[in-house]
Amino acid sequence: MHEKPKILIVDDKVENLIALEKTLADLDAECVRATSGNDALALILDNEFALALVDVQMPEMDGYETVELIHQNRGTENLLVIFVSAVWQDDYHLIKGIEAGAVDFIAKPIVPEILRGKVRAFLKLYEQRKKIIEAMEVKSQFLSAVSHELRTPLTAIKEGIRLVYSGVTGEINDEQKMFLEIAKRNVDRLARLINDVLDFQQLDANKMKFTMRENDINEVVSDISETMSSVAEAKGLRLVINLDKTLPIIHFDRDKILQVLTNLVNNAVKFTEKGTIAITTTRSENIIQVSIKDTGQGIKEDEVPKLFKEFGQLATGKERETGSTGLGLVISKEIVEKHNGRIWVESEYGQGATFIFILPIDERRVTH
Ligand SMILES: Nc1ncnc2c1ncn2[C@@H]1O[C@H](COP(=O)(O)OP(=O)(O)OP(=O)(O)O)[C@@H](O)[C@H]1O
Ligand SMILES: [Mg+2]
Repeated sequence: MHEKPKILIVDDKVENLIALEKTLADLDAECVRATSGNDALALILDNEFALALVDVQMPEMDGYETVELIHQNRGTENLLVIFVSAVWQDDYHLIKGIEAGAVDFIAKPIVPEILRGKVRAFLKLYEQRKKIIEAMEVKSQFLSAVSHELRTPLTAIKEGIRLVYSGVTGEINDEQKMFLEIAKRNVDRLARLINDVLDFQQLDANKMKFTMRENDINEVVSDISETMSSVAEAKGLRLVINLDKTLPIIHFDRDKILQVLTNLVNNAVKFTEKGTIAITTTRSENIIQVSIKDTGQGIKEDEVPKLFKEFGQLATGKERETGSTGLGLVISKEIVEKHNGRIWVESEYGQGATFIFILPIDERRVTH
């Protein structure tokens, strides 16, 4: 059954609402009245609206404030807002309206043909966006289900390998051991790939859960250096840690920031053949900064913008063959940004790369 899209009409004067309804009567949509900003806010909680036509000048709460508050609500990402106003022609109001997130203005007094034409066009846009969002939701649920389903048998395979390798099922010879080691490495790699895809889709669908607690970034860096120094040494690389001991405790999700650091240090090791990897923490003003500097191949300037994009793995990267997803930096960026932080890279090609991320010191929580 086709459900008519709903249009929220907000105006403190009932005669204006009636005029809007009359003008839009022929369209395949249902108008829902609100006579104040608060009225509108209450209505958007229980309804899905395609479009909101909002008067600017209203007592108590004006149209701009109303729309700002509307947009702070979950589930209104898809709502298109048009201001209906006699005052929009000057730049001041135009800017305020755009800043509040409106997609258009309709001048008062209303010209019926213009109102109908614009509303018709935006309803079409809404239907298209809705279809895309629904398709994305299906994709995301599918990805999530598949990755979950892949994890379960993988755990069983891993455990099987571990048991045989440990010798409790009977003694194994060196050749068998070697093959089991290869199997284990590949199972681990597969598990990493699946985790990457799962993380990515969770972030993409805004479904990743963050546990924000008071944490010490230096402690996380020390943790990573312990696990990574042997990996670095195995490649003949030096891992140097410089910690600013005056760093304050801040709120962040320890596991997630550990994941970011793990990826950045892993990358540094992966793309560096000789020299040093230095992890440094510093503080300035109201941010904490962590940098991972390597003396590896570096990154060409024109390739930098691709790094943090989905599947932006550089074409020449040898990791293509090793089967990584190239999602590490995308995931890292999302995680850092969910902490209201920022991440970027500075590099001179051939001289190495420095990946830097900053986290705010003031206690701000993840916004969902
Ligand atoms: N320290 C670095 N030096 C040079 N190039 C780098 C460095 N870090 C990342 N890159 C480049 O950026 C690409 C993307 O990195 P990213 O961590 O997203 O993916 P990946 O390491 O290839 O795969 P994954 O992390 O998913 O296993 C890398 O493939 C590499 O080409
Ligand atoms: Mg990586």
